[in-house]
Amino acid sequence: MTDVAAIILAAGKGTRMKSDLHKVLHPIAGRPMLMHLLDAVEALKPAKKVVIVGSGKQQLEAALTGTAELALQEPQLGTGHAVQQAEAALSGFAGDVLILYGDVPFVPTSTMQTMIDRLHGDDAPAVVVLAFEPEDPTGYGRVIVEGGKIVKMVEQKDATDLEKAVKLSNSGLMAVKAADLFALLARVTDDNAQKEYYLTDIVNIANADGRACVAVTTDPFDVAGINSRAQLAEMEGEWQKRRRLKAMDDGVSLIAPDTVWFAYDTVIGRDVTIEPNVFFGPGVSIADNVVIHAFSHIEGATIASGAEVGPYARLRPGAVLEEKSKIGNFVEMKKARLGKGAKANHLSYLGDAEIGAGANIGAGTITCNYDGFFKYKTVIGEGAFIGSNSALVAPVSIGAGAIVGAGSTVTADVSSDALALIRPEQKEKPGWAKRFREAMTAKKAGK
Ligand code: UD1
Ligand code: CA
Repeated sequence: MTDVAAIILAAGKGTRMKSDLHKVLHPIAGRPMLMHLLDAVEALKPAKKVVIVGSGKQQLEAALTGTAELALQEPQLGTGHAVQQAEAALSGFAGDVLILYGDVPFVPTSTMQTMIDRLHGDDAPAVVVLAFEPEDPTGYGRVIVEGGKIVKMVEQKDATDLEKAVKLSNSGLMAVKAADLFALLARVTDDNAQKEYYLTDIVNIANADGRACVAVTTDPFDVAGINSRAQLAEMEGEWQKRRRLKAMDDGVSLIAPDTVWFAYDTVIGRDVTIEPNVFFGPGVSIADNVVIHAFSHIEGATIASGAEVGPYARLRPGAVLEEKSKIGNFVEMKKARLGKGAKANHLSYLGDAEIGAGANIGAGTITCNYDGFFKYKTVIGEGAFIGSNSALVAPVSIGAGAIVGAGSTVTADVSSDALALIRPEQKEKPGWAKRFREAMTAKKAGK
């Protein structure tokens, strides 16, 4: 086993995105595409990861927070020139180098490993190129193979008609030993249609030296690049399609799979039913036997077994549902824990709250957790009953087993097992309404 280093190209301008956000930071399934790629690389336990960046360096620095090194390419003179910028970062590194693109985020680790294994084949190739066969190869560099070896790499703009008819295309990704890589790159010139330093030329140079170069072929999805918002959406769709199938394989029932959107890190147990039109943001974990009803939006939530959510529920970061608890329609939860078997079935906001087991939160209950400056906590004891349309002005605590009468505005703690009724007492004037009606009817008739 030799060491592996990854060089990830991300210095291109990404102009087609028309965005102030660096292209490789645009999210798929709630996570920057570059992070998806780095995750796959991480599984190889790489000795080094170097991201080549042009503009937007600060954005990448902030996003990477030390998980990979950055090397600047300024100006951008082509893919070969880009890889050269990693030379200083890899000085002293003698292992295998994987060259990847930051905008080609879904290369499986197994494909990367296949490339590295092939680099150590008996014929000791100088370069392993990851190739694929798109339906329409227009625009891609072509990989001309004869007798199992690459005889030429040629860009679309430099290709003859005969070469353009070849479908086998260059994904751009390669595996090369560090010792070969920088020696070959030093000999690349910009003598071509685009006046660029082509990475692909290292293959042609190695060939001229009499060294073999080979292609490894992969599925087009694995090497699909993202250059526009339309391709971003297409990739999101592809990713979701695969994730939905995996969920169903894992024992999750999706009634209308195409309408359920997962995040990169959604965790779901078995015998979970997800009704149509449910969206998961990052950080959701769902145990077994949970039902998520239609039109729920869930992020940063932990849902224990037997719980029920929605329809039309909104669970925000820090929402925790314990076993068999229930959140019903038009209930929003944020940084709040709903105890075992507790229920908030209708029209509530529960923020910065601890709700004990078996408590019942009536329709329209609001935890007033914010005064415009700070957030405050509401604690509701086990088995407490909060009457409909109550405002719980935090910080406040309702004791176990207490009852809060409907329509109360609670500003002070309520003792366990007490009844708190905070509303004007009801008065009644017998017959008043009838007398009023008669008097007004007469007045209107001018009598
Ligand atoms: C390159 C390949 C082509 C392949 C295609 C696959 C070369 C010469 N051509 O084409 O054979 O079929 O990718 O998409 O290698 N980048 C830099 N610095 C630069 C130029 C590019 O970092 O100076 C990065 C880009 O950000 C991108 C990647 O390299 O991630 C590819 O650049 P792009 O311009 O899309 O590729 P092409 O040169 O068109
Ligand atoms: Ca490209």
